[in-house]
Amino acid sequence: MTENNLHPQPLAVTQAARAALKSQTPCVLWFTGISGAGKSTIANLVEQKLLAAGRHTYLLDGDNIRHGLNRDLGFSDHDRAENIRRIAEVAKLMTDAGLIVLTAFISPFRKEREMARALFAPGEFIEIHVDTPLGVAEKHDPKGLYKKARQGLLKNFTGIDSPYEVPERPEIHLKTTTGSVENMAEQVMRHLARQTKQPPCND
Ligand code: ADX
Repeated sequence: MTENNLHPQPLAVTQAARAALKSQTPCVLWFTGISGAGKSTIANLVEQKLLAAGRHTYLLDGDNIRHGLNRDLGFSDHDRAENIRRIAEVAKLMTDAGLIVLTAFISPFRKEREMARALFAPGEFIEIHVDTPLGVAEKHDPKGLYKKARQGLLKNFTGIDSPYEVPERPEIHLKTTTGSVENMAEQVMRHLARQTKQPPCND
């Protein structure tokens, strides 16, 4: 390990300066929930709304990142933890660049979600529990993965033979069976407006 010989390099351009140029408050919207809960769908709509409001954003999505940066990782507990560690670090870099970052990963373990939260300044990490009952997600099953998991063809599937640890104090709790995708996305937008008190750029 070389880490004892590494020293952080002070950088002259700060997060505050980059964010000021964009007239926005950087943060990470961390969507968590079981497969098929609606994380990507809601995050997508929130990103569109932020874009329409003149915000600079980036959406990191589980299925996409696992085709690139994290294509070497599977779904063992160890690999999921590493998946989340890398995403948290990437999200950290992106918020440092001044962006509003959205992440859509199952992120089933509390420990890794807390590890991710710890990388950010107070108020910067917004945990969003996309809460869909297993029965509903399983019935929907757009990728046919629950069916495969039930048949024993897919191991370590979240909610079937791998746990999902429910967030205890998420900043936002979206009960998806109580409203539309539009309604869920609006809840996130309202929270953001309240918390950061930032008007849309094009207001
Ligand atoms: S995480 O648990 O490491 O956070 P991530 O969000 O990156 O998971 O990837 C989840 C996606 O991978 C699911 O939406 C599903 O399409 C796919 N997938 C493939 N195998 C599994 C599995 N064993 N458990 C959960 N999702 C799986």
